[in-house]
Amino acid sequence: MPPARVKRDLVSLADVASDLDDLLAHAARLKNERRRVRTRPTLRGRNLAMIFEKPSTRTRASFEVAMNDLGGRALFLSSGDLQLGRGETIADTARVLSRFVDAICYRAFRHAAVVELARWATVPVINALDDEEHPCQIVADLLTMRERWKGRFSDRRLAWVGDGNNVFRSLAIGAAAVGLDLSAAIPRRYRPPEEVLAVSRSIAARTGAKLAFVDSPDAAATGADALYTDVWVSMGDEAEQSVRESAFRGYQINERLLERAAPDAFVLHDLPAHRGQEITDGVLDGPRSAVWDQAENRLHAQKAILERLLVPR
Ligand code: CP
Ligand code: NVA
Repeated sequence: MPPARVKRDLVSLADVASDLDDLLAHAARLKNERRRVRTRPTLRGRNLAMIFEKPSTRTRASFEVAMNDLGGRALFLSSGDLQLGRGETIADTARVLSRFVDAICYRAFRHAAVVELARWATVPVINALDDEEHPCQIVADLLTMRERWKGRFSDRRLAWVGDGNNVFRSLAIGAAAVGLDLSAAIPRRYRPPEEVLAVSRSIAARTGAKLAFVDSPDAAATGADALYTDVWVSMGDEAEQSVRESAFRGYQINERLLERAAPDAFVLHDLPAHRGQEITDGVLDGPRSAVWDQAENRLHAQKAILERLLVPR
């Protein structure tokens, strides 16, 4: 039998949906505070294990710097170097690491692997991206929108253009939780099935947020307050590269599409970007790009998440 759960995980964004507003407010405070004082030793002596099955720039670096800022340490564990890569079970890995560290973040190919790690770990487990979700990214994204919209999500609409992937699935939960309307232009065969969106739909029913699929990027972008895209070929989807590149042609955020959005609309991308595919250089590097703030906000969001899961309130 797995151990009794006495800890809090962030496996899906739904795990923090009920207190997302507080989490974002906390991240904003931490961002402000870091301008004055870099370190804040709330996690002094604590350790975070970081298991990565896939490459990472932002997630890995932001978790590591976040732990440093909070007075703790992070251990980078590439899955290829762990016994996990030679067949040791996720359950055994979870039980052993839980004896050493205070939390584990895990970037995995399969969502079921993250769920399994969380099931057996006796310390909090944080999903650092898998094939179904990327919850930490969405905390940073919502922080970025919150800053630009002065704390208010109601009466705003975000347009998603591209793949109905892991980032989109977490975004659908996050947008619902904060009351943000979301219009998604996703080719039909790449839309998440309705059963996957059930969590998001039930949260939206409480907050009044709307999630709508539309038939074209133009329909999503027209009048939108922000545009968001991600790669057409996620890590793990490489075998479908050419099929996907054809399916998503026309689903690009470019200067013409941005013209259709609200005059003060800005553009988000979780990065890494494939310049010239899902987004043009001109938009990514242009004055309406919020992408670099969004990337910076990964750090402030990670700190808020780590404190939320590890510091008793
Ligand atoms: N956005 C994001 O998660 O980036 P990395 O893959 O570099 O961590
Ligand atoms: N959807 C992308 C996000 C990368 C941060 C992927 O999974 O590769």
